[in-house]
Amino acid sequence: MARHVNSALEMSTSDIEQIFVYAHTLKKQWSQGVRHPLLANRVLTQVFEKPSLRTRVSFEAAMMQLGGSSIFLSSKDAGIGGRESICDVARVLGGYSDVIVLRTFSQQLIDEFIRCSGTHVINGLSDLRHPCQALTDLFTMQEAFGDLRGKKFVFVGDGNNVATSLAAVCARLGVPLTICAPLDYRIEDGYLAELKAVVPNAEVVQTCEFKSALKDAAIVYTDVWTSMGQEAEAAERKQVFASYQVNAELMKLAPKTARFMHCLPAKRGQEVTDDIIDGPQSIVFEQAANRMHLAKGLLCWVLGVEP
Ligand code: CP
Ligand code: NVA
Repeated sequence: MARHVNSALEMSTSDIEQIFVYAHTLKKQWSQGVRHPLLANRVLTQVFEKPSLRTRVSFEAAMMQLGGSSIFLSSKDAGIGGRESICDVARVLGGYSDVIVLRTFSQQLIDEFIRCSGTHVINGLSDLRHPCQALTDLFTMQEAFGDLRGKKFVFVGDGNNVATSLAAVCARLGVPLTICAPLDYRIEDGYLAELKAVVPNAEVVQTCEFKSALKDAAIVYTDVWTSMGQEAEAAERKQVFASYQVNAELMKLAPKTARFMHCLPAKRGQEVTDDIIDGPQSIVFEQAANRMHLAKGLLCWVLGVEP
């Protein structure tokens, strides 16, 4: 049966822990110069409707370092939903590929693709989800802090695709999450209700109060104010989020031991200032590098190959 990574909500705590163990093992081997061809002759196909640096390249590099190969198609080349139906593309690509990564404007496209796909599908970002990012983020947090239980994760900014996926992974790993966002830009109640239904003791707080939010933070995280696909709202969002910039003043509200994270790409000078993203508390480039190690863990887990 195909194993999909669509929403982080669908993953259990033990799924996530197993992926982290795989990623950790593969990262250790990689750092020792060991690259076992665990996925020799396996083919990854990536179809993206939006630009990507980290997701695309980390999956390609992961696949190649594990002995497999990787094909990239823009959605236009794939003709998805235009030249032919989503289902027809899913069935055809599934015949050539061992695993497919999709990046789309709409989550519905990925859901529809998965309904028709006989092969493993990974969500490489949609308007609503970014599970590979959130898994990498908690993996990076675990490297920084060891035991994660009870360590506070604070997300400052838009309750977007990254925030919703972080909420699911934090909940599964017992990490209390605070979303510090303007009232109209919080994670939707419907999603939080779904989250509570699968993880009843999930701790998620949404607030506009910086002081209480940042107190005891282990991680301070932000993302762009305008995500891909929302460009028409950029001017309005710049105003709404103006006081949500992660800068030295805001970081002073968090303990000195707090680490700063950002999924990247960053709009420097908007949601974060240079002194913070390049400063001593920042672990954003370790986080970005971990995208590849996590991708390796995820590919092995999806394909049932134990490193
Ligand atoms: N963080 C992330 O997904 O980056 P890309 O958009 O470059 O893939
Ligand atoms: N929220 C951002 C994440 C980019 C990795 C976006 O969707 O554009």
